[in-house]
Amino acid sequence: MAQWLSLVEKRELAVGIIGLGYVGLPLVLLFSQEGFRVTGFDIDTVKVDRLNAGQSYIHRIEPEQIKNAQSKGFRATANFAEIAEVDAILICVPTPLSDHHTPDMSYITATMDSIVDYLRPGQLVVLESTTYPGTTEELIAPAIERAGKVTVMRETTVTGGILVAYSPEREDPGNTSIDRRDIPKVVGGLGPLAAEAAAAMYGTAFHRVIRVSSPAAAEMTKLLENIYRCVNIALVNELKLLCLRMGIDIWEVIGAAATKPFGFQPFYPGPGLGGHCIPIDPFYLSWKAKEFDFSTRFIELAGEVNEAMPYHVVQAVSSALNQRAKPLKGSRILVLGLAYKRDVDDLRESPSLSIIEMLQQEGSVVSYNDPFFPSVGRGRKYNLNMESQPLDHLDGYDCVLIVTDHTSYDYARIVAESQLVVDSRNATRGLQSEKIVRC
Ligand SMILES: NC(=O)c1ccc[n+]([C@@H]2O[C@H](COP(=O)([O-])OP(=O)(O)OC[C@H]3O[C@@H](n4cnc5c(N)ncnc54)[C@H](O)[C@@H]3O)[C@@H](O)[C@H]2O)c1
Repeated sequence: MAQWLSLVEKRELAVGIIGLGYVGLPLVLLFSQEGFRVTGFDIDTVKVDRLNAGQSYIHRIEPEQIKNAQSKGFRATANFAEIAEVDAILICVPTPLSDHHTPDMSYITATMDSIVDYLRPGQLVVLESTTYPGTTEELIAPAIERAGKVTVMRETTVTGGILVAYSPEREDPGNTSIDRRDIPKVVGGLGPLAAEAAAAMYGTAFHRVIRVSSPAAAEMTKLLENIYRCVNIALVNELKLLCLRMGIDIWEVIGAAATKPFGFQPFYPGPGLGGHCIPIDPFYLSWKAKEFDFSTRFIELAGEVNEAMPYHVVQAVSSALNQRAKPLKGSRILVLGLAYKRDVDDLRESPSLSIIEMLQQEGSVVSYNDPFFPSVGRGRKYNLNMESQPLDHLDGYDCVLIVTDHTSYDYARIVAESQLVVDSRNATRGLQSEKIVRC
């Protein structure tokens, strides 16, 4: 351990980060800024080539930041044999849901398959991907042990092996109000040595490290955080539906409630959940809970309410058009915003995608605008093949539907120039017009 701590202190620890996406790439920059030599691993050779050419493929990361990291030794590679050359291996690969809402662990198992032959004693492997409690102990450690090259040092009495830990990524894309280093890093080691090694490493890049007793406690911590959000968003989504019927403005109510200095945290309703976390992570726990004959009813109910929201939006567009004696079929509808939330270049699980498909199924002629997505093709769950339309001739659409409230939109102009605006985000707050329908 003394040698590890010395490597960390002198910034001579070589850090390898697997999965150079929304989580892995910012982590590369963080450790690189801290003076560590970082190697990034990804199976996507297009990403590897772009990074090595000093380019970025994530909107909020500037090419300059990549070049800066390069000047400190950063390189990207698709050659997993280079795992042998790093001391710490941080795994940040996707953990989506299968079509049947069960955990899709294929990215993690594929990662383990590609690294186990190159592991060597003295290394630390940390899983950062969000997952169900038990993954590190039941999947990561056994995969290493099965390969038979190195032992996992679960106990202090074992020497000459590999250390394994879990530390969840907690970043909030698009949130510029908090510095990444100020988000405390939760760490759970498989044994005290792994905990100490991981805490020492993260302690250089994060201002606070919170050590919990096990990887499972750290895995559960991440899920609790996201389930808390998912359930509270479902609560305000349900209350929004009630408030709409009662003629009460839910946004005004939340704003007033949020003035309470204790015991209340505001959450906001919307057109449905999106992103790689909140719509997915809770179901990792539901799935695991079944192993314990346990039904996670809050999660199931929240899922039911949140998944109904895109249908509510389509219904709201339908009745707003109906008020103007127009059917959904044949109406021209412009959807504003493809991203799953404001000012991010991420459309994974975005409610816009399902809303567009539902409107198309009803026979509407749908276009979209999103400054972050000049075009949208085919993904795991959609096949749109559309191009972002300019925001001129808005009066040529029967309805403009606000699904994502990007800050670059001039909502006053949009309302002034449109025939009808259906607003699922309260983006038009403060504007008075008969043309606005808030839903
Ligand atoms: N995006 C977020 O805001 C966020 C926040 C907290 C936690 N997380 C969690 O972090 C994890 C990663 O999410 P992300 O948003 O960065 O995903 P991402 O899709 O943006 O990036 C994942 C990267 O992993 C690469 N990859 C896939 N399989 C691989 C393999 N076998 N070997 C090497 N590379 C591989 C992909 O090519 C991709 O570049 C997920 O578990 C997610 O739930 C994400």
